[in-house]
Amino acid sequence: MTLKHLRLGVNIDHVATVRNARGGDVPDPVRAALVAEAAGADGITAHLREDRRHIIDSDIDGLMAALKIPLNFEMAATAEMQAIALRHKPHAVCIVPEKREERTTEGGLEVAGQDNTLAAYMAPLQAAGARVSLFIAADKRQVEASARIGAPVIELHAGAYADAWAEGRWAARDSELSKITDMVAYGTELGLEVHVGHGLTYDSVGPIAALPQVAELNIGHFIIGEAIFRGLGPAIAEMRRLMDEARA
Ligand code: PXP
Repeated sequence: MTLKHLRLGVNIDHVATVRNARGGDVPDPVRAALVAEAAGADGITAHLREDRRHIIDSDIDGLMAALKIPLNFEMAATAEMQAIALRHKPHAVCIVPEKREERTTEGGLEVAGQDNTLAAYMAPLQAAGARVSLFIAADKRQVEASARIGAPVIELHAGAYADAWAEGRWAARDSELSKITDMVAYGTELGLEVHVGHGLTYDSVGPIAALPQVAELNIGHFIIGEAIFRGLGPAIAEMRRLMDEARA
């Protein structure tokens, strides 16, 4: 199976990180999202963390009001976040594990082992029309559990692959890529839509984009960093070009 168009979700969290460094209103993540939309992003991803270290509640209000492309609302499985998601009814909700002390989302969600809790948590979100995805490690148990509890979408955590690439650990990179490759295929076989994200760069995106069953990549930190040098629109356009080249 080949999906023709590989969607690019641009994560704008780190525009908010820069804004929050000075506590004012600039740079505005909503403006960044509109630039991303104009540059060919298929969706915008924003993670409202419990500690509001980057995206804040008013950003979600602004994104919901301004965007024509879908918002993928990333959040931890807490009652507070569920209520916020139900109020906004974004196109997609991506459930991620969250630890206060972590620098970024370090691991995947433990789905296997908390099937019932997560299924019950997802139910109202799905009833409200949100496409729920679970951010999991490329691990068979987690993929199977995600399918078992009726999640329509999984996002595989590419962090270990991306780190190995960045650090020149080629054997680890290849073994992480083969785990992702296998779990993309397995998830698809189980009827899941499969996304991949975390840590992807111009160097590391190609082999992931080339996997024919992957429907969407979510990429943030690298693009926002690259935007300092090229501008946000061109940084996104280059990522798009590399994805299309790999897919072709
Ligand atoms: N996908 C998910 C589920 C994430 O949590 C993140 C990071 O917030 C990303 C994608 C984007 O990762 P990065 O900013 O490293 O590209």
